[in-house]
Amino acid sequence: MDLKSLLMDRFGRDLKLAYSEPVPPLIGQILQRRTHRRYAARPVADDLIDLLIAAALSASAKSDFQQASIIKLMDPAKRKAIAAHFPSMPWIGTSPAFLVFCGDARRLERIGTMRIHPRRNGDLEAFLNATVDAALVMQTFILAAEEVGLGCCPISVIRNEMTTVARELSLPDGVFPVAGLCVGYPAAAGYISMRLPPVVTVHTDVYDDSNLEGEIDAYDRRRAARHVTPREAQRNPDKFGYADFYGWSEDKARQAAEPEGASFAAFVRAHGFCFEE
Ligand SMILES: Cc1cc2nc3c(=O)[nH]c(=O)nc-3n(C[C@H](O)[C@H](O)[C@H](O)COP(=O)(O)O)c2cc1C
Repeated sequence: MDLKSLLMDRFGRDLKLAYSEPVPPLIGQILQRRTHRRYAARPVADDLIDLLIAAALSASAKSDFQQASIIKLMDPAKRKAIAAHFPSMPWIGTSPAFLVFCGDARRLERIGTMRIHPRRNGDLEAFLNATVDAALVMQTFILAAEEVGLGCCPISVIRNEMTTVARELSLPDGVFPVAGLCVGYPAAAGYISMRLPPVVTVHTDVYDDSNLEGEIDAYDRRRAARHVTPREAQRNPDKFGYADFYGWSEDKARQAAEPEGASFAAFVRAHGFCFEE
């Protein structure tokens, strides 16, 4: 596929990039990537998962501290116990494979103790470093999985049910999920989710969002032209009413207006992170 079409699919407009060489295959693949939530019955071989994990663990790691851990969730009873909390996301219980990517501040703390340089690893820096490491490992896994024809869906909602997740996965203090990940062979082609244009997300030399409102309005229209949200799918109409034009920004503003994550914050504060020195 030519670059112009790839960028039209991803951004909904011609970015007019000056790049004129053929698009390298991996970059073409990334430009077309998408989340998959429905999977064929075909199982995913465990040796393939292990290969993808080895690739994922090749991601960059802050200070070489390597503060990511992956839990392969193989026990159907544990999977069921977690999935039962999320009936609106049935893919959590039904994907052929499920992994949990964790930030792991515990291992570095244990290594400090082993080498007799003990130090708590529970401040904001530790939390952020471990989170970033886990996120990079997960995204590297996703790209590797997509390269072999698999589809994935990250699952951060598991963080809303930490009592169950921590119990089922025996998570010790200092280890927390960044996200679960459904993995399987896609049941359908899926679709590319249009991204904000680089004029919004890329800045040169200095941060500048002076054109944000106009650009967001234009993005909303481009997205709606490709995929209109049906009236019945508008989020929380009891609270927000029905909008005549329901674009991405209206949907995200409504979503963000509902607080999420308070229970996770309480969990990490009680399990190894004080966010202070
Ligand atoms: C950290 C993270 C957490 C996510 N959590 C969920 C989730 O709990 N449930 C879900 O269905 N999708 C989840 N997603 C998938 C996003 O909704 C998806 O990536 C986004 O809509 C963009 O679509 P795309 O990946 O197809 O481009 C998550 C994605 C990320 C990166």
